[in-house]
Amino acid sequence: MDNVTVVAHPLVQHKLTLMRDKTTSTKGFRQLLREIATLLCYEVTRDLPLTTTQIETPLTTMQAQVLAGKKLVFAPILRAGMGLIEGMLDLVPSARVAHIGLYRDPVSLTAVEYYFKAPSDLSERPVIVVDPMLATGNTAVAAVERLKEYGASELRFVCLLAAPEGIANLHRHHPDVRVWTAAIDQRLNDHGYIIPGLGDAGDRLYGTR
Ligand code: URA
Repeated sequence: MDNVTVVAHPLVQHKLTLMRDKTTSTKGFRQLLREIATLLCYEVTRDLPLTTTQIETPLTTMQAQVLAGKKLVFAPILRAGMGLIEGMLDLVPSARVAHIGLYRDPVSLTAVEYYFKAPSDLSERPVIVVDPMLATGNTAVAAVERLKEYGASELRFVCLLAAPEGIANLHRHHPDVRVWTAAIDQRLNDHGYIIPGLGDAGDRLYGTR
């Protein structure tokens, strides 16, 4: 699939299997999501541009590599996106965080916004939108739209699981947004859940079922 990277690393796949298992506890699910988030973050930042700066080692001066440009922005879609954020901040501690409150209307499956707070200079920063489940894609489309309205121009999307329908929807509306995911599952069911999936990521993360 164009514009999609499946992170096939064995550690990611092993942890994902544990997360899919319905007997995994809330505590275990949360910890695993945090761990996978760090690994996904490593992949999504793989091609960030570098520049050089002069430093002094204990022995000499050298031109050493550092990340170029302004700090990254992670944009979790509330609430399940928060489950990935700490693991990503472990790897990029100086990243900024934009919060996007969107929920899926259970009947229409469309995205409804209830909160938005982002750094004012989004146009100068790469933005990584974060949500564990790319299901219908409606929420992802709405989040990207909102971030673009606010000035973002360089966007990427990180999720744990994607449905083919969700990827197609996101790319129909936003072909410029590349997706990183741990797996592409078979399909959506009639309620918009990913099959085989792992259930409701927010409920499993916060123990609300
Ligand atoms: N959101 C979830 O949490 N799980 C799904 O399977 C689809 C959307």
